[in-house]
Amino acid sequence: MRGVVLASLLVACGGGGQSLPNGGAAGAGGEPSVGQVGDGGAGTNDDPEPQLSQADLTLLRGLSPDDLPPPPADPSSAWSDAADAATFGQRLFFDARFSGELLDGDNDGSPNALGSRGDVGKVSCAGCHLPDHGFSDARTIRKQISLAAGWGLRRAPSLLDVGQSRLLMWDGRRDSLFSQVFGVLESEVEMNSSRLYAAERVFENHRSAYEAIFGALPPLDDVARFPALSAAQTGCRALDNDNKCIGHGRGSPGDAAEFDGMALADQDAVTRVWVNVGKAIGAYERRLTCGKAPFDAWMQGDRDALSRAAQRGAGLFVGKAGCVTCHAGPYLSDEKFHNVGLQPRVVATVFIDANDPGASVGITRAQVDPLNVIGKYSDGDDGRLPVKLDDTYTGAFRTPRLRCVAERPSFMHTGQFAKLDDVIDFFDRGGDSFGFPGTSELSPLELTPRERADLVAFLQTLSGAGPAAALLAPP
Ligand code: HEC
Ligand code: HEC
Repeated sequence: MRGVVLASLLVACGGGGQSLPNGGAAGAGGEPSVGQVGDGGAGTNDDPEPQLSQADLTLLRGLSPDDLPPPPADPSSAWSDAADAATFGQRLFFDARFSGELLDGDNDGSPNALGSRGDVGKVSCAGCHLPDHGFSDARTIRKQISLAAGWGLRRAPSLLDVGQSRLLMWDGRRDSLFSQVFGVLESEVEMNSSRLYAAERVFENHRSAYEAIFGALPPLDDVARFPALSAAQTGCRALDNDNKCIGHGRGSPGDAAEFDGMALADQDAVTRVWVNVGKAIGAYERRLTCGKAPFDAWMQGDRDALSRAAQRGAGLFVGKAGCVTCHAGPYLSDEKFHNVGLQPRVVATVFIDANDPGASVGITRAQVDPLNVIGKYSDGDDGRLPVKLDDTYTGAFRTPRLRCVAERPSFMHTGQFAKLDDVIDFFDRGGDSFGFPGTSELSPLELTPRERADLVAFLQTLSGAGPAAALLAPP
């Protein structure tokens, strides 16, 4: 029966010059309604026929072009699509030797932690972006926010299709893949390390691979110019009650110690090593994709690829529920920042970040970041960084891409929802009414229980096969 349903869609599309494969006979046009054409064999009260209009189909087409577009060109890195850089970046992504000491006592040596308090060299990118879990954090206890050297406040986003995003992080505070790696390295709650220590480790462990791609490393073994730091010395020694470093991490700008003591040209040379590491890792990240999903197969004529519930959900997504206003395009994100009025709840047993200002602060930070896309470490700018911010950025977060969404261990920037049903309930009630900065853009949707279930069924059809197995482990 679903075959008949789809055939009617195809006919309907044919008139508009956007016909789907196996499109069948040229259509008569007119407002398509699958119910009209169905043979009556399948729709039941519990599981009625989807009713998709021409307008719905046009909008759905926007979510599922014949070919999913590759990441847009990234002028910030001259190596963004270089194969040798991507392979090198893949190795670096799994390398924990750049990291300093684990500070938080919750590091108890259990499988939920990366080691025990006081351990060094335990945190790699893959420690929070787990390749077998869509590059999300399914390791940390409760699978909401991440524990590395300490606790972060936001959920680790999936890295699948991250190459589609130009403004990164939930709040847009990084505007390139290459600069993003500095935050991880020098955060006291992530790698708790420094660019000086990391550059020395590149020299020690990756010299030939680095130099083959980026040219000669500075003489990082010359300790008169580049003071040697140990894993126990790099970064921060202790956290205060707000999980911030007491004092300043050693080996990075502002340390009034090893880094600040170097000649300016040597400081710059050290920064450039980690910039190039970021460009290599970025080239790898651009290869991580969710891939074509059952939804795309259905759009291209595979009649059995979606259940009736998922088809109805597709119609709701672009219709009554209005999801497509923000979750637009082939990756189901407009890549913009929206306030959806999320009242943060306790996650990972104790944490609550009730006053997260989101993009208003994040993008302001990117604007003044010496590592940003208009700065000297970038190989080019495409105007991605907004110049002016209005009030709508307050409490706003970047619309998440939704391909492979059902595989994520938890949802929203806080990770406070464990199930997609919770997310749909949230949007259905128009978000929360208070307890977040800024003004919410949402209003209640008044969905029926079946409509809510249909939307979940649709979201579950967005999962592709994920990246090739060769990309899921060190090369
Ligand atoms: C301690 C866990 C942790 C580690 C280790 C970690 N990340 Fe993340 N990652 C996060 C979290 C949390 C965020 C979101 C933070 C935010 O928005 O404030 C994030 C965000 C990102 C983003 C932005 C994604 C997007 O959609 O905007 C990228 C890219 C990324 N990480 C790559 C990396 C790379 C590369 C490494 C290693 C150099 C790394 N991460 C190490 C937790 C981690
Ligand atoms: C006004 C823009 C907007 C609309 C409309 C909207 N979303 Fe979202 N969506 C967002 C933003 C922004 C977030 C992240 C918010 C946060 O974490 O604080 C989000 C988060 C999500 C998530 C969680 C993804 C993740 O990785 O955590 C899902 C699933 C989702 N939306 C689905 C939907 C569905 C289904 C609809 C329609 C019922 C919808 N959204 C409507 C902007 C929107």
